[in-house]
Amino acid sequence: ASPLRELAAAKGRSFGVALDAKFFANDAAYNALVAREFDMVVAGNVMKWEPLNRNGRFTYRWANPDALVAFAQTNGMKVRGHTLAWHQQNPTWLTGATWSADTLRQLLKEHVDSVVGHYKGKIHAWDVVNEALNDGSGSLRTTGSPWAPALGRDYIDVAFTEARRVDPGALLFYNDYNLEFPGAKQDSAFALIQGMKARNVPIDGIGFQAHLQVGGGATAPSRQALVNTFNRFAALGLKIEITELDVRVRTPGATAADLAAQAQAYGDVVAACLAVSACDAILVWGVNDGESWINTTFPGWGQALLFDDALGTKATYTAVRTAL
Ligand code: XIL
Repeated sequence: ASPLRELAAAKGRSFGVALDAKFFANDAAYNALVAREFDMVVAGNVMKWEPLNRNGRFTYRWANPDALVAFAQTNGMKVRGHTLAWHQQNPTWLTGATWSADTLRQLLKEHVDSVVGHYKGKIHAWDVVNEALNDGSGSLRTTGSPWAPALGRDYIDVAFTEARRVDPGALLFYNDYNLEFPGAKQDSAFALIQGMKARNVPIDGIGFQAHLQVGGGATAPSRQALVNTFNRFAALGLKIEITELDVRVRTPGATAADLAAQAQAYGDVVAACLAVSACDAILVWGVNDGESWINTTFPGWGQALLFDDALGTKATYTAVRTAL
């Protein structure tokens, strides 16, 4: 059977995966599976500000992310860079001090210069800004953010403009969750990007994280709803990528119907991407269920990915294959 990456390539798409501790443990079977099935990778954590730069201004820990990029190059995979400006996983040297607005702008530019510069020419796309909008209302997220309280929306423009200047060859994405559903947050992301375009701030794409759930009262967006959403953003001239796909179910206790709905949700996301020419990549947020962030972040939910913990394929994998 052809691996996912071959099936996706035949449709002009990439199929990717987030890599984290299991990858860096150099588990031969795991890493061989990654190289066989996927043609795009993203770091689950090690390119974020805190893991990369926890030891102080200008002090970067490149070893793990460099190993990830080297693995990708060896195996003919593209790399997504994740992420440059976010309200989470920032180093305490940054968040624990009080900075003037001018200095904050400078720190953000410095970080973009260091990281985008280090990987210049090696990154397919950067998630320049991650999760800038509050869930629900879609207002600018300030809680926990080093940037928004002092700089407002301007920090977004600064980060994108600087990233373009440093690596003009990398696509620049805005990435967020719960944009898969119509509503205030999706409208706000649309307005944000429209505004950036009006101000000539460089942006090439929008990342739909797609952390979806089924069962326990939750339903995933329909295939048609996804197509409509993707088309809405494609009309702004953006590329679309599904950047962090997982579909969680209640666990223990997922019913056969839940698992069938989960597989269908995976298939619907893939089919929706294939239906929209601007959608060029789908990435899952981890390989096997046991390594998923869902297990710790959403207690009572799990079994969210394509492979079980013996690295066997699940019904979700079959659904993705069939849709590709
Ligand atoms: C998650 C990682 O998978 C976890 O290991 C970490 O503890 C927290 O972050 N949205 C994002 C990702 O953009 O960076 C998050 O990754 C999951 C939600």
